[in-house]
Formats: sequence, structure tokens, C-alpha cells
Amino acid sequence: MQAPHRLLLLFLLLNLPGMWADPEGSCKLHIFQTYIFHNTSFVDTSSWATLEDIVFATLQKYTRDLCYLRPWVYPALPEAEWENLQNLFKIYLHNLILSLSSDASPYQIPHPYVFQCTAGCDLYPNGSYTKFYRLAYNADDFLSFDVDNSVWKRDQKSELAAQVEMQFNTFIGFSETLQLLLNVTCVDHMKKFIEYGRADLERQELPVATVFARTPSPAQLLLVCRVTGFYPRSISVAWLRDGQEVPPGPDTNTSAILPNADLTYQLRSVLAVAPHDGHSYACRVRHRSLGTRSLLIPWDSSKTALSVGITIVVLLATAAALAGAIWHYRRRR
Ligand SMILES: *[C@@H]1O[C@H](CO)[C@@H](O)[C@H](O)[C@H]1NC(C)=O
Ligand SMILES: *[C@@H]1O[C@H](CO)[C@@H](O)[C@H](O)[C@H]1NC(C)=O
Ligand SMILES: *[C@@H]1O[C@H](CO)[C@@H](O)[C@H](O)[C@H]1NC(C)=O
Ligand SMILES: *[C@@H]1O[C@H](CO)[C@@H](O)[C@H](O)[C@H]1NC(C)=O
Repeated sequence: MQAPHRLLLLFLLLNLPGMWADPEGSCKLHIFQTYIFHNTSFVDTSSWATLEDIVFATLQKYTRDLCYLRPWVYPALPEAEWENLQNLFKIYLHNLILSLSSDASPYQIPHPYVFQCTAGCDLYPNGSYTKFYRLAYNADDFLSFDVDNSVWKRDQKSELAAQVEMQFNTFIGFSETLQLLLNVTCVDHMKKFIEYGRADLERQELPVATVFARTPSPAQLLLVCRVTGFYPRSISVAWLRDGQEVPPGPDTNTSAILPNADLTYQLRSVLAVAPHDGHSYACRVRHRSLGTRSLLIPWDSSKTALSVGITIVVLLATAAALAGAIWHYRRRR
């Protein structure tokens, strides 16, 4: 049975003061690394860095040269600082791989094996920040670095973790450099990146929403609201029954927010209803790109479908009309 597609957009002029927290002041700078030890002669590495969810730099696989992936990255720091970071990364990668290679260490690790590292700092609106460095072995938590005390601590009970913990705690110079990088450099550089990368951080993409029905059995109707193409990630999607918000419960099921390939996001929300129950239903979407307005997509079994293209035009036309009206109103005052 072909589920009828419903697509319609309406704007409600709702005032929702304070619904969106100011993004300023809260930010994350994270570094990710993967080391695949195929055999004694071949280690495959990849490294990349993110500001919030924007991948802004990587290390080239073989030369381990820094690559700047957004135009604002290089100008954000002095040339000498980039050279310094480049050198630190090369030495760090070289030493880390050496100490985790099974042939160069007192412990034997069977090939192939994988180490993954995440490190970075999170800055909060009140100006405080947290920092971390974690290492995983074959996808399990393995070792972490206590930045404030400059001490390595194992996150699993294995003999291997105990040995690596002991070994890493003898690398005093390495630990001190890492402490400085995570406690001071990370936040200092993040503040520069926020300043220079503001346009990327404040990018907004409008959500496109579709409502359609599925009938897994004659007695059950599943209304599906699919929302995609939005940025930033934070969004609110709710079902309305006769204009009233349906609280989350056994009848509702909302997916995780999943990434699209173009650094936008998608999710879907499902509401189970009884067929022909006489109620009206709508999916309501609130997102930063909509300002204080909401997107309302009613589900109406009697109407025919509109295309996504028309939907976007309706949306833009409404926004333009609104902007025009506000401008006109302001001019007349
Ligand atoms: C090491 O692993 C790589 C990738 O799997 C392979 O191409 C290479 O032949 C291996 N080398 C040895 C000495 O086993
Ligand atoms: C700052 O905010 C963070 C996150 O909300 C909180 O964990 C921390 O305790 C706050 N610090 C201070 C000094 O208020
Ligand atoms: C971390 O940085 C803060 C602020 O710069 C400083 O007060 C603190 O002493 C540093 N902690 C360590 C362990 O270096
Ligand atoms: C929600 O959907 C997921 C994925 O389809 C499913 O595994 C899960 O059982 C559903 N939960 C409820 C409460 O319907």
C-alpha cells in the first residue's frame, strides 16, 4: 500500500523568547586520531581536528603536514605558531607510534590492532573550561591523561594497560608538553578560531520537513515527520494533536540526529495513531534558522502532495513577505 505523501508548510508567528541559547561562549575544540598497526612495518594513521562539528584541519597521511580545510584557519594563528604546532605533531606522532608498536616495547600486541585518541578542550559560557586526552585500544577505553596532575591512568584492568600506563608515566617531558597544550594552548587557539571562523560557526540552513503515513497493519497508522537539511544541529521536533503538543510517550519515537554528507543534519519522528480517529495532526519544527517562527506541517489524508521544490519557494516567499512587512512597518513609524 502506497503511503500518501503530505507536504505543506505554514508559518506561525509564535514568540518564543529565550528559546535558543546564545552560541557565543560555549565551544569545543577536539582532535581525533586513529592508528592502525597492520604489521611491524605498516602503521596507517589519520588525524583531524574539529571546532564544534566543523572539521577544520587534518594531517596528511604520509608527510604528516598540516592541511587547513577552511579559509579562516591559517590566518587565525601566526605563521611561527603553525610551524611550532607542525613540529610538535610530527614528534608526538613519531613517539606515540614508537611506544605503541609491539616490537619496540616490552609487551607483545597481536597484529592487527587499532589505537584511537581523542583530546581537546570544551569552553563554557561562564569562561571555565575542561580538557581531556583519552586513548582507546581496539575500540575499548584504555588509557587517559589527567591533565591537571600530569598523570596517565589506565581505564581497563588488562596487563597491557598497566604496562603502557607505567611506561607513559616515565615520559615526563612528553606529559608536561601535553599538559601545557591541553590546559593553555587549546583554549587560547580555540578563542582565535572562534573569532576567525565565526561565519562557519554561525551558518544556518533551513530544515525541510515532510510528513507521510505508513500502515504496518490495517489497525495502525504511523505518521512520520522527516526533517532534513538543517544546521546547526540543535532542533526541536514535536507532534501536535488538535493543536496540542503530544508529550513523548509510548506512541512517539524520535530518532537520533544523524549527519548528512554536506554538514547538515536529519532526524525523523514517528507518532502511532488509530486510523480515522477524527483528530488533526501536525508536525512542528523549531530551529535557529527559523528565528522565533515554527514550521508546521499538517497531516491531512485528503490533500494531495506538494513537491519539495514548491515547499522551499513557499518558505522563502513567506520569509520575504514577512521581511518586507516588517521593513514597511518600521518605515511608517
Ligand atoms: C603490512 O600490511 C600492509 C597492509 O595490509 C601490506 O600491504 C604489507 O604487505 C604488509 N607487510 C608485511 C611485511 O607483512
Ligand atoms: C561553568 O559552567 C560549567 C558548565 O555549565 C559548570 O560545569 C561549571 O561548574 C561552571 N563553573 C563556574 C565557576 O561557575
Ligand atoms: C592550567 O591553566 C590555568 C590557567 O592558565 C592555570 O591557572 C593552572 O595553574 C594550569 N594548571 C596546570 C596544572 O598547569
Ligand atoms: C523506535 O524506533 C526504533 C527504530 O525503528 C525501534 O527499534 C524502537 O523499538 C522504537 N521504539 C518504540 C518505543 O517504538
